[in-house]
Amino acid sequence: MKIAILGAGMIARTMAKTLRGMKQRGEDVELYAVAARDLSRAEAFAREEGFQQAYGSYEEMLRDDQVELVYVATPHSHHAEHMKLCLKYNRPILCEKAFTGNARQAEEVLALAKEKGVFLTEAIWTRYQPARKIINDLIAEGEIGTPRVLTANLGYSMMEKERVFLPELAGGALLDLGVYTLNFASMVFGDDVVRMESSVGMMDTGVDHTENISLYYADGKVAHLMSTAFTNTDRRCVVYGDKGRITVDNCNNPGVIEVYDNSYSGVPVKTIHVPEQITGYEYQVQCCMRDMAEGKLECEEMPHSETLHIMRVMDELRAQWGMVYPFD
Ligand SMILES: NC(=O)c1ccc[n+]([C@@H]2O[C@H](COP(=O)([O-])OP(=O)(O)OC[C@H]3O[C@@H](n4cnc5c(N)ncnc54)[C@H](OP(=O)(O)O)[C@@H]3O)[C@@H](O)[C@H]2O)c1
Repeated sequence: MKIAILGAGMIARTMAKTLRGMKQRGEDVELYAVAARDLSRAEAFAREEGFQQAYGSYEEMLRDDQVELVYVATPHSHHAEHMKLCLKYNRPILCEKAFTGNARQAEEVLALAKEKGVFLTEAIWTRYQPARKIINDLIAEGEIGTPRVLTANLGYSMMEKERVFLPELAGGALLDLGVYTLNFASMVFGDDVVRMESSVGMMDTGVDHTENISLYYADGKVAHLMSTAFTNTDRRCVVYGDKGRITVDNCNNPGVIEVYDNSYSGVPVKTIHVPEQITGYEYQVQCCMRDMAEGKLECEEMPHSETLHIMRVMDELRAQWGMVYPFD
């Protein structure tokens, strides 16, 4: 599959490394094209990362009929605009998280993709990784009894990154980091949330730097989530049940999953290491290839309904905080 990258920033480099690794393993991916707003930067990226074509405008790349999947790697604020551009040329899309700047934009893009019959999925990598099934299987097998409470945190020191502190680039910790803790809670506890409480710390620029979010579920479960763009955190998630707990070392890319009983011995009764990975990004690309080959328009790991649900939750949280983006 000929893959093109739209936007030659930081995460585009991770995708390039992933695709090289997949190709080396004999998987059917071609590092085909990259587009940046500046041709010389696109050419430098293509040269350094091993892409065949470089384009100095996104639209020019999208006119190229050989492009089979476009990875959108621009700031959240611009995802809707760039996905609509992809859809203008009927190009299948894997779009970085957060899917859009708000739920209205997500609804528009998803409706357009449906109308045009073009494949589209969100690049929220944790949804596609093997850790998800490992955690859900442990719970289903009764390893911790009945799950009751979970905690998850994700923090990185990101204050030097322009798109994180600017409202016009849909900045803030929620869309960059909170989106992972919300997705973790959704993957483990589902979406039947009856009450959501939160508190927030805001930057002078009008976007959030740190938040606590509590989700209360219809069946009595509770999820406590924390995200921050101020500082690195341990990124740990814990699912507590009446017979024990599951710990996950990294909400953003799980590596080690442990099960503890209620004895407080400090020794896990089970330790599971996730399979060796290239970057952890390969799973979402593999899911795109699998589902596109089957003629599907979305990935079962992250259906459009889930993408929209998470966007609506983030809109509601921002409404609680009085946090508005200029494009809202
Ligand atoms: N899954 C993950 O672990 C992960 C990690 C980091 C980021 N992300 C996501 O990836 C996306 C990009 O993040 P990043 O950290 O790679 O950002 P970045 O380094 O700032 O790069 C963003 C790119 O977007 C393009 N762009 C287009 N219009 C722009 C505008 N008006 N202002 C600024 N940039 C613009 C630029 O590409 P050109 O100038 O080259 O055209 C820029 O290189 C975000 O959605 C982010 O949440 C995901």
